Amino acid sequence: MLLMPNPVDELTSADLDRVKDDLLCRLRSVVPSQEHVLAHWDQLDEIAKAKLATQIDDVDFDLLRTDASRPPLHPQYEASLQPPPVITLEEQSSSHDAFLEGELCLQEGRVGVVLVAGGMGTRLGFEQPKGMFPIGPVSGNSLFQVLIERIVALGRRYGVRIPLYLMTSDVTHKATIRFLRENDAFGLNPDDLRVFCQGTLPAIDATTKKLLLASPGELATCPDGHGGFLDAARKSGCFEDMARRGIDVLFYGQMDNPLLLIADPELIGHHLLANADITTHIVRRACSTEKVGMFVSQGPKVWILEYSELPKEVATATDDDGEPLFWAGNTGAHLFRVPFLKRIASRPNALPAHPCRKQVDHIDEQGRIQQPLEPNAIKFEKFIFDLMHHTNRTALVECDRAATFAPVKNPDSMATDTAATARAAMVKLHTGWLQHAGTEVAPGIDVEISPLFALSKSDLGSKALAASIGEPTFLT
Ligand code: UD1
Repeated sequence: MLLMPNPVDELTSADLDRVKDDLLCRLRSVVPSQEHVLAHWDQLDEIAKAKLATQIDDVDFDLLRTDASRPPLHPQYEASLQPPPVITLEEQSSSHDAFLEGELCLQEGRVGVVLVAGGMGTRLGFEQPKGMFPIGPVSGNSLFQVLIERIVALGRRYGVRIPLYLMTSDVTHKATIRFLRENDAFGLNPDDLRVFCQGTLPAIDATTKKLLLASPGELATCPDGHGGFLDAARKSGCFEDMARRGIDVLFYGQMDNPLLLIADPELIGHHLLANADITTHIVRRACSTEKVGMFVSQGPKVWILEYSELPKEVATATDDDGEPLFWAGNTGAHLFRVPFLKRIASRPNALPAHPCRKQVDHIDEQGRIQQPLEPNAIKFEKFIFDLMHHTNRTALVECDRAATFAPVKNPDSMATDTAATARAAMVKLHTGWLQHAGTEVAPGIDVEISPLFALSKSDLGSKALAASIGEPTFLT
């Protein structure tokens, strides 16, 4: 650890020379040598020098040794991988025990929610945090509103306060805070909302493995992946907040799925009955190329092979009946046992960094800005689900895809996982609820139900509903 003189404005030029010498010494000892990041040092003012020094001090130089051609924790013995056990929908339909257990846990106020919202809507052609994307098919409500209203509605139903720990990134933080402020956090009590920013990891040149500079006084960095949640939650005091509230079950979900079944009582019940450290809602993979992480197991260990790192033989493996062998796909919705999470979060580098090629703007040796059109760099991301490597107690619970999983990832020009497919899934689900309650919905008419109106189809039983709906309708 490099000790920076403090405060910055008391630095003398002798102090700064010493800091530079210390840094140079360190940067030269790394392979490949990284002293180029100090090339513009003499042009920087004192504050910029101190900032750059701190940024360099934080770099984990072991990252430079990452073999980008082989993802971390890649199974060495693919042949011995097995499909993991799953609590299937069929098994769930025969018992009500899990649901009751989950409801009790919610009533006792033991459940908190984390949503990871570090991503922008760039792939959708939406240059804002993805949570701000207007997804409601009739209301035009944002992903943030749809998901936060579910938390508010759950709190009301169970008579408890359910805190939301919302993780942003340096690219989404300010806009997210502004948006939530402008909208009074969609009814969530301000004391029950904690917004905190994930960290970053440096980007390196894909060919030379040299750190890239975003400007003369700043390393080029990228958000550290949703696995950055562990560090960010620890540093921002989330675990203390959970302890104060008596929360021992944390629901974790992604911002990009308007059907996300946040804190589903049934899922919570299975998690508790299985005494699991991690429980995940899984869907049957739609096809061998679907962009979802895939569950595998080896002995008692269950984990996810991410779609971008999947060996083809594993992705396409079939069983004796010709059905996909590894059929369980990751929805990105997990439950964590909080003491487990806290224990692992206290270990340095508990999660590996996955390398990924990306276009990263940077400056060259002459200080000229370079904006590559092709991936030029390797960025690193930590995946939250690598937590599964730290436990033998992972439970998988199948969910009904049509009612639970409609991720918004791609522009509408594509066939799957678009805003259009997600809106259609919402309309289909809510039409089904209304029909079940006896309301006729005219063909081709969009209906949408706010979580504040009903959380499930059984909630509609107690509502005064029209006999038929013939125009676009938003029930709230
Ligand atoms: C993700 C999962 C995949 C799963 C699929 C389901 C990963 C690595 N893969 O794929 O296994 O089957 O969703 O839809 O997660 N995020 C941050 N900070 C970051 C990076 C991401 O908060 O640094 C958030 C995003 O805002 C988003 C979520 O994590 O809410 C998922 O990230 P994304 O990169 O879209 O994952 P996918 O590749 O779609």
